Amino acid sequence: MVTLNINGRDVQVDADPSTPVLWALRDNLNMTGTKFGCGAALCGACTVHLNGQPIRSCVTPISAVAGQKITTIEAMESDKVGKAVQDAWVKHDVPQCGYCQSGQVMSAVALVRVNKAPTDADIDNAMSGNICRCGTYQRMRAAIKDAAKTLA
Ligand code: FES
Ligand code: FES
Repeated sequence: MVTLNINGRDVQVDADPSTPVLWALRDNLNMTGTKFGCGAALCGACTVHLNGQPIRSCVTPISAVAGQKITTIEAMESDKVGKAVQDAWVKHDVPQCGYCQSGQVMSAVALVRVNKAPTDADIDNAMSGNICRCGTYQRMRAAIKDAAKTLA
């Protein structure tokens, strides 16, 4: 049994300590907003925050994050920055198939929290670990700039 702090709540996860956070979320806790893409830290679909920083949950064992603050896409609606980013995502019609987008939003939120006027280069840098096979990068850029503006 490992205790995880997810979206401000302590939860007990009955899984092997080596289980990746992604599978604890999806399989043990039924929180399916975080997606499985590559399983090898290459695509960013599984991005969550650990103490506010984006991490790849597919390669992070639950034993490594016990007691630390994990934040997932499910918490973004009730988060000021998360809400601004999600509203901008809707306004700019960002998602295409949608599969990569919860990971994209998590990376975008982490960026906008620390950078209120991100340039294209800042955005490309912060989002470089998140792959979108539909190629929504231009719309994500516009949405991130818009969200940052509303929060500035
Ligand atoms: S599923 Fe984790 S980075 Fe691709
Ligand atoms: S919207 Fe389809 S993979 Fe990004």
